[in-house]
Amino acid sequence: MGDQTGPVAVVTGANRGIGREVAARLAADGHRTVLGVRDVDRGRAAARGMTGDVTVAELDVADPGSVTRFAGWLRQHHGRVDVLVNNAAVTYDTWQDPLSADLDLVRDTLDVNALGAWRVAQALAPLMRHRSPGRRIVNVSSESGSLTGMGAAAPAYAMSKAALNALTRLLAAQLAGDGVLVNSVCPGWVATDMGGPAAPRTVAEGAASVLWAVRIPDDGPTGGFFRDGRPLPW
Ligand SMILES: NC(=O)c1ccc[n+]([C@@H]2O[C@H](COP(=O)([O-])OP(=O)(O)OC[C@H]3O[C@@H](n4cnc5c(N)ncnc54)[C@H](OP(=O)(O)O)[C@@H]3O)[C@@H](O)[C@H]2O)c1
Repeated sequence: MGDQTGPVAVVTGANRGIGREVAARLAADGHRTVLGVRDVDRGRAAARGMTGDVTVAELDVADPGSVTRFAGWLRQHHGRVDVLVNNAAVTYDTWQDPLSADLDLVRDTLDVNALGAWRVAQALAPLMRHRSPGRRIVNVSSESGSLTGMGAAAPAYAMSKAALNALTRLLAAQLAGDGVLVNSVCPGWVATDMGGPAAPRTVAEGAASVLWAVRIPDDGPTGGFFRDGRPLPW
């Protein structure tokens, strides 16, 4: 289990892509870092090579039972959470348009990308009530979810990220008096399995945009939407 002191960071969907990089950087920075992953073997493979205190635990954000078990595991092994990065996501549905979109797929996408983050936040919030500095919830969103710029592209994904942004506002408002800062972050277009090989940004660059919202000071912003530390329109 390792060191029993120091902040605990949880990253969902941490076995590949941006989540894996964010987890590696948080662990290197001294967070006791928990990789929430659907497949523990793939999570352990991802954790190899990370430095610091890293553990892997099973988490399917779409499965309420899995989220409850994950929260119980965290309570037992760490007893607290300081940083929650809601990173897990699916379905960048560039092949769909709004009028012909498969609504079952839209529902499944919302269940992971928006309700999944909500489920995990609900389950982990009791572990964040310790009032230490540095408590953060970072919802990894996308400019695709910006209502200001929204077109017809990737409708399931776009709607799910708009909903995730709403969750950011809701949680930020509820936790405002509690000292937990809650923000949405867009990592930019990043070369991952989701972003594809043509994406101009590296995983490290995307992760840096996410990590900014972890590292802001306790009097930093809450309830905002940012990329690279700069506000994005809702
Ligand atoms: N890449 C981009 O250009 C880009 C742009 C804007 C925003 N984003 C956002 O950045 C975040 C990370 O994206 P990425 O590009 O790194 O994606 P990725 O490479 O496709 O990785 C997605 C991760 O989410 C996990 N995941 C999916 N469903 C899950 C579930 N039900 N429970 C737990 N984990 C689940 C996956 O696990 P499995 O391996 O088990 O599938 C995987 O670890 C996402 O929120 C994405 O929307 C990405």
